[in-house]
Amino acid sequence: MPDKIYGSKILITGGAGFIGSFVVEELLKYEPEKITILDNLCRGGLENIKTFKTNPKVEFIEGDIRDLPLLEKCIVNKDYVFHMAALRINACAANPKEGFDVMIKATFELADLCIKHQIKKVIYSSSASVYGLAQHFPTSETDNPYDNQTFYGSAKLWGEQLFRSYKFMYDLDYVALRYFNVYGPRMDTDGKYTEVMIRWLNCISDGTTPLIYGDGSTTMDFIYVKDVAKANVAALLSDVTDEVFNVGNGVETSLEQLLSILLKVNDSILIPEFKEENTVNPVSRRLADISKAKVMLDFEPSVDLAMGLNELSQWYFEKKAFTV
Ligand SMILES: NC(=O)c1ccc[n+]([C@@H]2O[C@H](COP(=O)([O-])OP(=O)(O)OC[C@H]3O[C@@H](n4cnc5c(N)ncnc54)[C@H](O)[C@@H]3O)[C@@H](O)[C@H]2O)c1
Repeated sequence: MPDKIYGSKILITGGAGFIGSFVVEELLKYEPEKITILDNLCRGGLENIKTFKTNPKVEFIEGDIRDLPLLEKCIVNKDYVFHMAALRINACAANPKEGFDVMIKATFELADLCIKHQIKKVIYSSSASVYGLAQHFPTSETDNPYDNQTFYGSAKLWGEQLFRSYKFMYDLDYVALRYFNVYGPRMDTDGKYTEVMIRWLNCISDGTTPLIYGDGSTTMDFIYVKDVAKANVAALLSDVTDEVFNVGNGVETSLEQLLSILLKVNDSILIPEFKEENTVNPVSRRLADISKAKVMLDFEPSVDLAMGLNELSQWYFEKKAFTV
């Protein structure tokens, strides 16, 4: 089965991003002929691709997926496409018009070009956001998406449905992956949408009080970024098509538990302070049912939260030491 990747040509949109850069590293293990990354670096960055920037198998193109001629140039002669370029949930909310252009219009153009250039399979990065606050826990892929309230979630769902319709109309093979809460090295440390883990690592580093907004009972299903990369490769290697899969750890962790594990792996005795929640979070719970990916993709996450937070912390402190 790994022969599918050996000698193949692959495009990864958003390949300089947090998750995309790990997908490139995972794919390189299977010796493709060429991996082309198309990324406009609006997030992500060259730092993310430094482990493979000089690898002759990797071509980095700084450009926008909304640039149609460029997108076509990147798709011509490819075997497979990983479509990962996207705006973050808050960026979509702040600018829905840009959200439409990047998440919907460019995804439509990409799908059309995949038909035109006979791409063998597309792996589409979707999100647990499509569920909104899910109806059932653990949440399986059959939960309906009508409780999603975000533009981002609606755009991801539209992408899934676009690929489903193109499979039906044009026989374009695809798999969509609904990632839950992805964390790990290369997470954004200073961007506008800095994740809570990084804020808490800043507190551990500075010895300041970590804040928990709300009562800390909000839960998430955290999955380590290298496991997400493996799920992407499993989706490509398998013969499964026209399916959507949850990609989570299948473990529900509250914010309070998350902080406690993070403090423990860093030998920190900081005491958190609880603050009134300043935004309304419509999604108070996340827990993935991951049995479908186990059965159909033979994919199971292998990194538990303590192990993953340990690697994240190591990366964080190395990066900090390097930039001081
Ligand atoms: N991180 C998570 O927890 C999570 C959860 C669910 C889904 N996802 C999805 O996974 C994918 C990868 O997410 P990530 O966390 O690596 O995000 P990221 O922001 O680190 O990576 C996305 C990359 O896409 C690039 N990009 C954005 N708009 C572009 C455009 N118009 N043209 C070219 N490149 C563009 C960015 O520069 C960035 O490098 C995205 O589709 C995201 O929606 C992520």
